[in-house]
Amino acid sequence: MSSPRKLFIKTYGCQMNVYDSERMAESLPDYEQVSTPDEADMILLNTCHIREKASEKVFSEVGRFRKLKARNRDLKIAVAGCVAQAHGQEILARSDLVDLVVGPQSYHRLPAMEQAVRAGERTIDTAFPVEDKFDHLKARPRQRCSPSVFLTIQEGCDKFCAFCVVPYTRGAEVSRPAQNVLEEARSLVDRGAREITLLGQNVNAYSGHKHGLAGLIWELDKIEVLKRIRFTTSHPNDMDEALIEAHGACEKLMPYLHLPVQSGSDRILQAMNRKHSRDAYIKLIERIRASRPDILLSGDFIVGFPGETDEDFEDTMYLVRQVHFGQAYSFKYSPRPGTPAAEREQVNRALADERLQRLQALLSEQQRETLQSMVNRTVSVLFERKGRHEGQLVGKSEYLHAVHVKTDSAKIGDIHTARVIAAEPNSLTAVPL
Ligand code: SAH
Ligand code: SF4
Ligand code: F3S
Repeated sequence: MSSPRKLFIKTYGCQMNVYDSERMAESLPDYEQVSTPDEADMILLNTCHIREKASEKVFSEVGRFRKLKARNRDLKIAVAGCVAQAHGQEILARSDLVDLVVGPQSYHRLPAMEQAVRAGERTIDTAFPVEDKFDHLKARPRQRCSPSVFLTIQEGCDKFCAFCVVPYTRGAEVSRPAQNVLEEARSLVDRGAREITLLGQNVNAYSGHKHGLAGLIWELDKIEVLKRIRFTTSHPNDMDEALIEAHGACEKLMPYLHLPVQSGSDRILQAMNRKHSRDAYIKLIERIRASRPDILLSGDFIVGFPGETDEDFEDTMYLVRQVHFGQAYSFKYSPRPGTPAAEREQVNRALADERLQRLQALLSEQQRETLQSMVNRTVSVLFERKGRHEGQLVGKSEYLHAVHVKTDSAKIGDIHTARVIAAEPNSLTAVPL
């Protein structure tokens, strides 16, 4: 038997791309995955289009494979993900190195495309097909998986925030039927998963269960060996009462919520088409905290959105101080071709940089305070991997903090309680109880 071909995948962007990369790798069972591009027979870049930097990387990355291609005539280069969706034709035209382009909604056709490429063709598929890719993807393999896994339940977005490419690259909102999700969840649990993070571009707009995301969470709650449930990313306008209540009532639903707000200025929120005010967000957070007082909040922010004045920016700083985020991501606005905000008058770059620095300093401070406040507290840790030191395991607390624990009794996949003894800038150290 000939040895299997080798597949190298590089994944950019959000967790959904991580999930998609796994499914794409599984759909090519004749390949074995390798961790460097050097030996590969197929290099697959799963790309992200969200900001200019991410997007431009694709061309420079592909260029670097020219040498490898000269050395290995069998090497094929594939581009998947959101840049493929947005600029597929252009990629094929601009780079003779790329053999295959596949969009996020058509990658169930990858096996057939791979065959075409092996037969010497160059091929592209960036359709939004009528069939559901989940019905056509290969069944997932049976071998053991990580204790903490992603599971995509919803894709696409109908919200059209004025800055964002996602509605164009991922298409309209579609939810997978709950039965489908539950089946996949059960099989992941059989393979060793103990924590499932439900993914969607607007995960709390999930409509595959008659009681929405909360309904699905309560179904998952019944899977005994599944110990932890998370979901990301949510939109403030889709946090319904049932979901807020589940945060208080469902023990398996972890006390962590990523709820992007983008800006604290009503004027900018409106210009962004976010469809809620700053006060509505603050009130929502109060209700969530009333349901689950220890919940750790995470957010996304954009600074330098077109039209943002000093006063608007101060409103964002005010919101951050009011809410206090356990962790957050903040970005400088990046104009994306085809989105409404890209056409508007842009904020001075240096000014935007300065604002970003001030916001990041405040958010880092809040993150540090949050980590520090964990010291002496008891956390439960789901162990995911070995640490750098002998006898050390690394896992996640219920608040999604990385926790290092020295232990001889625990193994990967176990959940143990531990007492936090120290806080580092991005993680905690704890001792078993
Ligand atoms: N669906 C999620 C987020 C998707 S994109 C939501 O609605 O919250 C992830 C984050 O990237 C966004 O929350 C936003 O903060 C940031 N982002 C999106 N488009 C951007 C742009 N054009 N420039 C800068 N940041 C952007
Ligand atoms: Fe983009 Fe807005 Fe949709 Fe999030 S809700 S994916 S930011 S358009
Ligand atoms: Fe990027 Fe597409 Fe995700 S643009 S953030 S990979 S949905």
